[in-house]
Parts: sequence; C-alpha cells; structure tokens
Amino acid sequence: MAINSTGLQPDRGAGEEQNSLQTSLSPDVVEALSSTRLHCVECSTIYPAIEVGQPPRYRCDCGGVLDVETDFQLPKQYIRAKDEHVDDMLYGFTGDLDSGTPSAGALWRQVFDERASNPPIWPISTDKLMLDASGVWRYRELILPAPERFIVSRPEGNTGLYPVGIENCGAGRAGHRQIGAYAGLERFFLKHEGENPSGSFKDRGMTAGVTMANVLGAKAVACASTGNTSASLASYAAQAGLQALVFLPAGNVAGGKLAQSLAYGAKTVQIDGDFDDAMRLVEQVCDELGIYLLNSLNPFRVEGQKAIGFEILQQLDWQAPDWLVLPAGNLGNTSAIGKAFRQAYNLSLISHMPRIAAIQAAGANPFYRSYKQGFAQRESVQADTVATAIRIGNPVSFTRARRVIEECDGIVEQVTDEEILAAKAVIDRAGIGCEPASAATLAGVRKLVAQGVIKHDEQVVGVLTGNLLKDSKTGIPQNLDGRTVKATIDAVRRILQ
Ligand code: F0G
Repeated sequence: MAINSTGLQPDRGAGEEQNSLQTSLSPDVVEALSSTRLHCVECSTIYPAIEVGQPPRYRCDCGGVLDVETDFQLPKQYIRAKDEHVDDMLYGFTGDLDSGTPSAGALWRQVFDERASNPPIWPISTDKLMLDASGVWRYRELILPAPERFIVSRPEGNTGLYPVGIENCGAGRAGHRQIGAYAGLERFFLKHEGENPSGSFKDRGMTAGVTMANVLGAKAVACASTGNTSASLASYAAQAGLQALVFLPAGNVAGGKLAQSLAYGAKTVQIDGDFDDAMRLVEQVCDELGIYLLNSLNPFRVEGQKAIGFEILQQLDWQAPDWLVLPAGNLGNTSAIGKAFRQAYNLSLISHMPRIAAIQAAGANPFYRSYKQGFAQRESVQADTVATAIRIGNPVSFTRARRVIEECDGIVEQVTDEEILAAKAVIDRAGIGCEPASAATLAGVRKLVAQGVIKHDEQVVGVLTGNLLKDSKTGIPQNLDGRTVKATIDAVRRILQ
C-alpha cells in the first residue's frame, strides 16, 4: 500500500518518547477506574480498564472488540438515606434490563437536571473546568469516572434538538415543517450533532478518548477516518498538546474535513486505499509504534458518544421517543446510543427503550445485508456512496451494533444516493443543513414511514451527524455563473421575475 504523507506539520518529537505509555498510575486514577472494566463482546472475557505496564488493550485475546462496563455511583451528596434500596441507588446498573429502581431514576434525573440548569459563566482566567457545561461530562458518572485533572473538553454537546414534525414544529418554524411533511411524521425531532465544536458528533467520543490518552500518559494519538473523526481528533489533540496522526482514504474525504485536520496540525496521511484499508493500517501502526488509537475500536470513545443518547432524553424531559434513527457506517454511534438507552432504562431514567433504526447507504450496506439474513452471517462489501462519511465496507463495531438492534427490536434499512441527496436538499432548504451522510437519516425515516414500519403519529428523533460546511459541494450546483448580475436594481428585478 502506497503511503503519501502530506506532512504539513513538523514532527513534534516523534520517536521513542511518544511510544511510552504510563508504567505506573497515581492512586486517584486507580481509585477512579476501580469500578470500570472491559468486557469482550464475543467471548465475555473481562479485563481491567488499564493494565499497568502493558500497551492499551483495544481487542480481546480472541480478537473481539471490547465494551466498557462500569458500576455507576451516584455522587455522594445525592444519597439521602441508607435504606434497603441504597445498593440499587449506588450501583443501579448490573447489566440486565430490570435492575433499576424508580428511586434511583429520580435521583439520577435530579443530578443531571441540576447540572444542566446551572448557566455556564465562563471564568476569564482560571484552570477550573466547566464540566457541567459540557453535554458529555454533565453525565460523567455514566461516561468515564476519570479524575478531573485529565479531562480535555471544549466543551462539547448541548446541540439543538429541532422540532420539525407537522404537528410539533410550532410557531416560527413554518420552514421546518417541510421536513416533517417530507418524512410524513406528526412529531419529529432532528438532533443536530453538526453543532459540536468541530462540526460532528465525533467530539463527544473524542473528549472521552483524549481524556483517556491523558490518563495513560500518551504522547501521540491516531485514527483512520472518512474525515470527521480525524478533524475531531486533530482538534482535541491540539488542545491537549498531543501529536496527532490521521490516515485518510485518498480522494474520498470532503474538503472541509481535510482542511480541518491539516489546519489543526495533525500529521495527515492519505493512503492509496479505502477506509477499511486505513483502519487495518492504523491498528497495526498503533500496536507497533505505541500510539494511542482513537477510532471507535477504542471502547472509551464509544462511552463519550453515549452522551448523544443521554442528552436527547434529557432534552425530552426524560420521555423516551418511540424511535431513534441515525446513519450507520462504522457502527460506533449505533452501538453508543443503543448502549446509552439501555443504561438509561436500567437506571430507571426512562420507562421504555426507544427502537433504533440504523440507515446505511445502499452502496455501503454490509450491516443491512447481514440484518436481512437475521444476522446469520457477518457481511463485508466494497463500499461506494456519495456520502463519503459512511463509505465503509467492513464496520469495526459490527457485533456491538448487532446486539443493540436485537436488544431494542431495532431495524436496519438502506437508502440510495438519490434518496440521500433528495433528503439533504429538504434539510438544507429548511435552513438547518447537514452533510450528505446525515441526510441518510431523513431518507430512512421517509422510507420507513412509507412502509408503515414507523407510524405517522409515533415520536421520532433523527440524528444529523455532521455540519453542512463539512461537505459544501456535494448536491449543491457548482456553476454559479448565471447568478452573477450587474449591481443594479433592474438586474435584481429581472432575476426575481
Ligand atoms: N455520519 C457522519 C457525518 C460520519 O462522519 C460518520 C462516521 C457516520 C455518520 C457514521 O457513524 O461510523 O459511528 O456508524 N464517520 C467516521 C469518520 C467513520 O471517520 O469520521 P458510525
């Protein structure tokens, strides 16, 4: 495989030093992570969260991917009485669906609602972190119990949840109603994750992943990416003072994303291959060079992305929607949001699990193909779609996502590139806008409503994963010649006729 480094940034001390991770941990880290472990989704082997003196673990010895398990602990000040429910309140999550108690749910809601109601007032000169102001760290006990001094936060999250259904869109949103009409839904919300600091949902996972890199004492972090993970990694690594290395499929990354990675100073390597090749390469590079891997193979990154689910539930005042619909590529987000809903249900934060619909591009549909066979077989394809963010043929989080779909009675659907671009035009013209992959959500909702799978009066939340500015060319007319006119009132009158 040919490697062409665009190498825009001088090497900041690459070499032996960057390969060493922490060989001993401070007592506060050991204490904080004592309730956290890694669980193999294939063979159920359990590993400690950190194996001191060992390279970070991203896979089980059997090759399976790992999932973080945590015994959640309410902050001490919220435990009012030592009664027979105290164990449930302290350790609400035990991994099966009925373990929560109503009292635990009310206390957790109180914790998160109090944090959300504190308006962020930015200190001008202080090193105090504004954790409650982050839409990820507000839920910190459910994300990553790392000591605060390691946390790297912009902050992120707090993204808009737009009511766009025919019935729920309300006054002042006549244009947004077009989206509900296109979908055929009365009560429909779009959660715009493109409003995160680097313009995609990846920031939610990256704040957790880069925090973990800090805990481990990593000097360099890396990922393979279709563009958004790399932009986010580059941004958070720059903030934390870490070296960033990103592998991109040459010719298949939208301009805005590539520009971000370069501008934020990541060593940006375009490979002569697709995302799946880049993914294989980065795993090997990280293993051999001791660089911390920050793809969603990294289980701590998935934990950060759970916050999308928690924040949606909180914005809906803890009334779970009937459906959550999202685009699916490497399947990290399907895994993360599904896990968040399961944990919220186990903690009695919500009273039912939303069903999840994962939408793939028809040209990049390995998960859909497998779903259609009842998941009897894991499929992979040579991916091709206009939605380059989800141009992925062999998704890393396949098993995690399959569990999610099975557990929540979810479904997987596919949509064509034409359907994606048509849906993108509707979202764009409503004034909200998104990148092509995100529009798979609306295309999928429309298809599922037309099929009668989603009923027109069910409450649906669709996730828009990336900002319009990430990919400002696809689906937009490129020839603007006819739009240039003389700067006169008559010329303007003529074009308005
Ligand atoms: N939407 C956007 C805008 C994305 O960037 C991605 C993934 C997805 C949807 C799919 O999410 O992989 O969790 O199923 N982008 C990755 C990247 C692969 O490298 O930026 P997923």
